[in-house]
Amino acid sequence: MSDVRVETHGSTEDVTEALRADVREGLSATRKWLPSKWFYDARGSELFERITALPEYYPTRAEREILRVRSGAVAAATGAHTLVELGSGSSEKTRSLLDALRGNGTLSRFVPMDVSASALTEAADAVSRDYPDLSVHGVVGDFTASLAALPGSRPRLVAFLGGTIGNFPPDERAKFLASVRDVLTDGEWFLLGTDIVKDPATLVRAYDDAAGVTAEFNRNVLHVLNARLGADFDPGLFAHVAHWDADNEWIEMRLRARADTTVRIPGAGLEVSFAAGEEIRTEVSAKFREEGVRAELAGAGFALRHFWTDSGRRFAVSLAEAVS
Ligand code: SAH
Ligand code: AVI
Repeated sequence: MSDVRVETHGSTEDVTEALRADVREGLSATRKWLPSKWFYDARGSELFERITALPEYYPTRAEREILRVRSGAVAAATGAHTLVELGSGSSEKTRSLLDALRGNGTLSRFVPMDVSASALTEAADAVSRDYPDLSVHGVVGDFTASLAALPGSRPRLVAFLGGTIGNFPPDERAKFLASVRDVLTDGEWFLLGTDIVKDPATLVRAYDDAAGVTAEFNRNVLHVLNARLGADFDPGLFAHVAHWDADNEWIEMRLRARADTTVRIPGAGLEVSFAAGEEIRTEVSAKFREEGVRAELAGAGFALRHFWTDSGRRFAVSLAEAVS
């Protein structure tokens, strides 16, 4: 087992306060919504891991293929001493990068960061067990709030995999990319996984699987509100909806009330009424094209050096350099 530690940015009270504020804003809006980061308690992270193995959910397999083929090129281009991974989850695919960067002889530290304490701790322990001479410094925290304090010697490679960038609404996406650029100096690196625009039937299937795992993942946000804010949602009263929005080129996940219902959320001081058929938007999952990725990266101060796709052109991994 290598040197491993996990630090937590923000107290439990801070997290509950942030959830309370999001719930007040999102569930008081005319079109109700909740931020997707609240899916990920321990159960939510487990459900996400089950999603990654579903036959309909191609992004994980496609990105794994790209990383297996291209990690050597990433290591050669970056010579990274530190690998920071944002929204790291299980860090399973990341092992191709760790292998290549170790093979290159440059990597000394891995810094996974995730809002899910259980996923982060399990992944940090597993990586440290399997890479005994790597220093593993996990951070439990929100990557929209606390990037500035990330540890590690330069040059650093910040990886943001899985297509999680697509879970930001567009204005927040630009802000997030700028915040990553802000903590890097010129010549450091950003590796970004993005799902690609494709036929809507394939996309909708990936977010509405036959086994109903994604539906359960979607409803998990209601379990989180029940547990953390003492809410009395009956999750079974909400149907899972996966909708392709062709104008915005994103999948929208929603929860649709099957009947009129009123929910008490004491931890947020709220009582919320739903009419039958009314929906809560729980996630957007944007899909990308190469030119859009290049432009958004350039807008944040990154030059796109490589845009790699899998053999089925379903998913892309972009390697970008911080430039001024
Ligand atoms: N990178 C992994 C996991 C993707 S799932 C993969 O490619 O398989 C998205 C991950 O991001 C989850 O582990 C979730 O807990 C984390 N996450 C979501 N919003 C976050 C936030 N605001 N701050 C930190 N982590 C976040
Ligand atoms: C983490 N994120 C990229 C996943 C996605 O595909 O947008 C979350 C997810 N939602 C439903 N299925 C998977």
